[in-house]
Amino acid sequence: MPVLEELLVEEMQDLLHAENQLVKALPKMAKAAKEPKLKQAFQKHLEETQGHVERLKQAFELLGARAKAKPCKGMQGLVQEGQEKITEGREKDGIGSDLALVAAAQKVEHYEISGYGTLRTVAEKIGETKVAKLLAQTLAEEEKTDKLLTELSAPLLEEGAGEPEMEEQEA
Ligand SMILES: [Fe+2]
Ligand SMILES: [Fe+2]
Repeated sequence: MPVLEELLVEEMQDLLHAENQLVKALPKMAKAAKEPKLKQAFQKHLEETQGHVERLKQAFELLGARAKAKPCKGMQGLVQEGQEKITEGREKDGIGSDLALVAAAQKVEHYEISGYGTLRTVAEKIGETKVAKLLAQTLAEEEKTDKLLTELSAPLLEEGAGEPEMEEQEA
């Protein structure tokens, strides 16, 4: 197998394992989220993530490669961190706990954005246009999720910054 094709397949196997882990982790994140909009965002991204698994499987088929998952240690670590935030969050107030969940989730999205970005470029380079298109679709959803998480964290940050002090400044 040519070098770039081999790289593409191997890295896709890594991402497949990453996405499979997220299919299991996202329901826990949704359950732990206290703010309803954040809960919804995790649930929506769970559905999208199931689609990411399907797209990867389609991409393997297009490449004539086996859809085999290879242990993704990076995502294992990130999911573990997320799990810690969930556990610690049980003793925290809503804002502190939700912001910690957003932080963990954005690390995950950035990991995925990095992975899909690289692979799309590799797929384009070797002329696998259809594969590149599938990877780009998922990439766009990861980027959208990252932006949505930033948007959802803004009011929480505002609230966490403490309104009483702002009133004092005005007086
Ligand atoms: Fe994903
Ligand atoms: Fe994602």
